[in-house]
Amino acid sequence: MEEKIEQLAAECGNEIAAADSENALYAVRVKYLGKSGLISELMKGMKDLSPEMRPVMGKLVNSARASLETRFTEKGKELHDKELAARLAAEKIDITLNEDTPVGCLHPLTAVRKRLVDFFVSMGFDVMDGPEVETDYYNFEALNVPKDHPARDMQDTFFLGGNLLLRSQTSASQVRYMETHKPPLKMISPGRVFRNADDATHSPVFHQLEGLVVDKGITMCDLKGILDDFARHFFGKQTKVRFRPSYFPFTEPSVEVDVSCSICGGKGCKICKGTGWIEILGAGIVNRKVLRICGIDPDEYTGFAFGFGIDRIANIIHGIPHIKLLYENDIRFLEQFR
Ligand code: PHE
Repeated sequence: MEEKIEQLAAECGNEIAAADSENALYAVRVKYLGKSGLISELMKGMKDLSPEMRPVMGKLVNSARASLETRFTEKGKELHDKELAARLAAEKIDITLNEDTPVGCLHPLTAVRKRLVDFFVSMGFDVMDGPEVETDYYNFEALNVPKDHPARDMQDTFFLGGNLLLRSQTSASQVRYMETHKPPLKMISPGRVFRNADDATHSPVFHQLEGLVVDKGITMCDLKGILDDFARHFFGKQTKVRFRPSYFPFTEPSVEVDVSCSICGGKGCKICKGTGWIEILGAGIVNRKVLRICGIDPDEYTGFAFGFGIDRIANIIHGIPHIKLLYENDIRFLEQFR
């Protein structure tokens, strides 16, 4: 029996040494040390031994078992480390290899909006956000557009029922601002607006940035000065600004503002439709009625207001022919702004 033990221990030792994976090692362990493994089977033969031999053999089997256990543990650790190292090598991610990783960028609208807001903030304008679902009062009535006023046709509005609508202009925020701030005041209201219009230059959703300045002695000259700076900053140093008479219910007098075409330098091209000028915004001196409605005395204060589409400015700056390109999220289009 002693020989048998030594022989089994030696065979088991060889198989441990030959095991090349944790699974293989486990199989060897079951074969020899498992419940019905070869060594356990050997123990069953003990009952046939003489009472003197039993403890001697018992000791031998136990010490063989113990030394095999140690070898299993050592080999187990070795295989585990090897398998871990192999897995780490196989699953390694080379972070220095980035040729195929696309780099994103700001959407052209977001980028232009940020530049516009930065420009006005640098001139001391406050920035005001407002609700996109507005009441008829803030979007129209407080701006001198009563319910039956034909000027409502200028902005084909999405009415939501009751007194609510999707704001058609961020001028609504300017009324809210005047209600809560005393002059002198200087603010812009950038944001999303909605109108029922849909063609190459109009989208049902677009973005406006409107400005308002109210103080003692504000005139058209102040408006012209700010818009001159604005135009030169965004369209180039040579840019000229011209005012054309126009009509808005909330300003009196009102003007339509054009900038000289930066593409052809004013000679006339496709972008400016041969006129040399591009219309960019509406503006004017705040109507006395609007000031009064907002609790500001029109005999003491005057103000100017202007408003333009951020989308339109982005299209002019980048030469984008169709407003919808800004909303389709076509990756081939967006990638050009990286
Ligand atoms: N709110 C006007 C519009 O959406 C633009 C505007 C703003 C005109 C301020 C004059 C003064 O068309």
